[in-house]
Amino acid sequence: MNPMKKPLALVTGASRGIGAAISKRLAQDGFHVVLNYASQEARAKELLQEIESQGGSATLCPFDVSQSTQVDEKLEWITQHLGPLSVLVNNAGITLDTLLLRLKNEELDRVLSIDLKGAIYCTRAAIRPMMKAKQGSIIQIASVIAEMGNAGQSAYAAAKAGLIGFSKSMAQELASRQIRVNVISPGFIQTEMTQVLTDPQKEAILRSIPLGFYGAPEDVASIASFLASPGSRYITGQVIGVNGGMYM
Ligand SMILES: NC(=O)c1ccc[n+]([C@@H]2O[C@H](COP(=O)([O-])OP(=O)(O)OC[C@H]3O[C@@H](n4cnc5c(N)ncnc54)[C@H](OP(=O)(O)O)[C@@H]3O)[C@@H](O)[C@H]2O)c1
Repeated sequence: MNPMKKPLALVTGASRGIGAAISKRLAQDGFHVVLNYASQEARAKELLQEIESQGGSATLCPFDVSQSTQVDEKLEWITQHLGPLSVLVNNAGITLDTLLLRLKNEELDRVLSIDLKGAIYCTRAAIRPMMKAKQGSIIQIASVIAEMGNAGQSAYAAAKAGLIGFSKSMAQELASRQIRVNVISPGFIQTEMTQVLTDPQKEAILRSIPLGFYGAPEDVASIASFLASPGSRYITGQVIGVNGGMYM
């Protein structure tokens, strides 16, 4: 629960990787963080304990972002029991790497449902209380692949590029209510998502990064922290690359 009535942030896909780093950072910033995840309850519980051991506060909130009924019910629960959201971070995502000729309809549906429709469902369910409160920051986690494309990642690129178009439209719809909508577009960040790549793939990516090293989840978290803070009050509808110069 949120007994101190701290400002509230929901992070989807918080159980590990970038979502976990953003959640820890927002908790350090003084938010009560709602930790969403799909299946990995043990990891989410560990994160909750870590946040609490550092003096922060959080609430676990499992749901599948691709299921609009679940999203609506959980967001309603959050508003009723914890208060209106100040910050929504749409981070939950999966990759799907295959050439288009081999892409199955179910695979296409799955990546679009989680990476694009999931963010749209969460945004739609979150904005009514934000509009009433006339404040809010919505942060979408897209990908450098949305901006530059990548052979074998057409479905993922389509989902993440769709997220950018969606976010710019929402930034325009919501600006008069002082709700800001921005996109973070990470490059190669070391998480379980990128662990599955082969060594030759990782080496090729490293050669394409001008700064010469892979990003850490904390590199994304520090930008999310900024976008959640009043320091970014004049920034909306932007795509902020966190990619070591991989795409300029
Ligand atoms: N890593 C990179 O290099 C990189 C680069 C660009 C963009 N990104 C984007 O950054 C985001 C986080 O990536 P990551 O590397 O941290 O990935 P990750 O380590 O694979 O973590 C993915 C997270 O998303 C959650 N999730 C998956 N499907 C979900 C669903 N249907 N409903 C709710 N939660 C769901 C997972 O929950 P469970 O643990 O419960 O399964 C997990 O918490 C993704 O959107 C990804 O596309 C990552």
